[in-house]
Amino acid sequence: MNSHSKKIRIAIFLLVTIPNLCSVLFAQSSSLITNVEGRTTYPLDGDWQTIVDPYENGYYNYRYQPSDNGYFMNQKPKDKSDLVEYDFDKSELLKVPGDWNTQREKLFLYEGTIWYKKDFEYHLEKGRRLFVYFGAVNYGAIVYLNGTKLGEHEGGFTPFNFEVTSLVKKKDNFLVVKVDNKRSREFVPTVNTDWWNYGGITRSVSLIEVPLNFIKDYCIQLSKASNNEIRGWVQVDGKDLRQNITLRIPEIGLEKTFVANDNGYVNVNCKATLEFWSPEMPKLYEVIIETQSEKISERIGFRKIETIGDNIVLNGKRIFLKGISAHEEAPVRGGRAYSMDDARTMLQWVKELNGNYIRLAHYPHDESIVRLADEMGILIWAEIPVYWTILWNNEQTFLNAKNQLTEMIMRDKNRASVILWSVANETPLSEERLIFLKKLTEYARKLDGTRLLTAALEHHYVNDTTVVIDDPFGEYLDVIGLNEYIGWYDGLPDKADKIHWETMYEKPIIISEFGADALQGYHGDSLTRWSEEYQANLYEHQIGMLKKIPHLQGLSPWILADFRSPRRNLPGIQDQWNRKGLISDKGIKKKAFYILQQFYQQIN
Ligand code: GCU
Repeated sequence: MNSHSKKIRIAIFLLVTIPNLCSVLFAQSSSLITNVEGRTTYPLDGDWQTIVDPYENGYYNYRYQPSDNGYFMNQKPKDKSDLVEYDFDKSELLKVPGDWNTQREKLFLYEGTIWYKKDFEYHLEKGRRLFVYFGAVNYGAIVYLNGTKLGEHEGGFTPFNFEVTSLVKKKDNFLVVKVDNKRSREFVPTVNTDWWNYGGITRSVSLIEVPLNFIKDYCIQLSKASNNEIRGWVQVDGKDLRQNITLRIPEIGLEKTFVANDNGYVNVNCKATLEFWSPEMPKLYEVIIETQSEKISERIGFRKIETIGDNIVLNGKRIFLKGISAHEEAPVRGGRAYSMDDARTMLQWVKELNGNYIRLAHYPHDESIVRLADEMGILIWAEIPVYWTILWNNEQTFLNAKNQLTEMIMRDKNRASVILWSVANETPLSEERLIFLKKLTEYARKLDGTRLLTAALEHHYVNDTTVVIDDPFGEYLDVIGLNEYIGWYDGLPDKADKIHWETMYEKPIIISEFGADALQGYHGDSLTRWSEEYQANLYEHQIGMLKKIPHLQGLSPWILADFRSPRRNLPGIQDQWNRKGLISDKGIKKKAFYILQQFYQQIN
């Protein structure tokens, strides 16, 4: 039996025998644990030389075939007669991390290719390995080191990495990335979204050095089946895979050693008496994983999230999610957010709202906000950009969505704050759509059976005053997310007073969106659209209606702060901003902010 078929047999055996844990196969995917103590990280952030290349001249030759002498070769004229028609070192700079749209006026509306180059020196000792890690690049990335292609990545909001051990030199390394944020029908998201298509290397880039045999990935969680048991797995990579792996939690005196199998994989489980993580008490433990060649640690919270009937239950207690939705728009400065400061500003605003939950819309946000939510005790709804009119029949589109789901779950699987994985937002009913989304949820459950699955669905009217939630996809979800715009796209604010809600699901419902646009500082009576008074009026009527919605277990109004959208073009009011924020693009709170704050104060 050759080693390949032997591997498959082992994988199938493990899959059937280990329910509710992140599945084996994905421990062998490209995810790489980062942001942990004990690992050498060398940031490549800062100024990168860039070439704006709308015709992809640096990639294709004049016959529109990929050239093997493109800009990734970073060529220099050999002598005065040599013909080279680009020069990174004389080209303009762009900051990484950061979108290009808000860094250079003429790139504000640019959608296309920009080449990025970063020079670096790196002395890699013998017996060490080196990876280049990207937090995210929007949308498509082709990555080269010293002229050699490392690989490609598609999807603007999840991390990826490549090993460069055999390619890195002591001096004169040049890392080149072809970034392309052109939209296309079969992509995820597809061509129409209500957010700005910020392009660029939007999150941090770093070199990560590890020993020859290293801890590639792990999942350490509270067991679903018991309150005093830790369960998970560890995957090591390298030549010696049958490693001893020791799990330690010094604070509770826990220390247990496991032996990895031929694939370097081991399930870990051990008894533990833990304080549970919750918004009131965001308890995190230092968790240490050690092998013969490496010792890393990070802070992990242990909590149990489940649904019981129509309740959302955290650590055995019913919880109401007092939340808000948010785009990854940098507070006050605008542009794609990426820093811990951006995250802290946003989560502090949630705290000021008396909130305990945030919906990170409509794509995975930077890891910093998820880790900070662990620290600050804020629950998270995380989502992949399967948004509006995706191409349901396109296999590539499905594989792309599946891959983004994998990368999202694999990055944040150890985060206590993340309780909900959302696989879609406002997608039109059809058989193809149902098949597509059903496959995604089945797959998500295999990857992670410890969290709740949801999606933002829509309702419909059965008569003037009765709305029904009966989207067939609700069947496959643990929690029903529901977006409604009664009082904004649908009538005036007081319409909410007479609406009666029905649902065919005895499941928890989260009103994942409602809201109204208001230009901060623009005032009028409560029926003057775009005024703060109209927005405030809508919130008051909504709150009255929400109390009557059956099975309501949470809400995340649309939206924490104004965000840029190319669909919003009303001069003097929108100016390419969606103004449904409770906080303006300048960070100023609108009247409705205090109405929601007070409502959440009342909800104990
Ligand atoms: C939709 C959608 C959001 C959008 C919002 C709006 O429901 O999910 O992405 O921004 O409505 O219209 O403001």
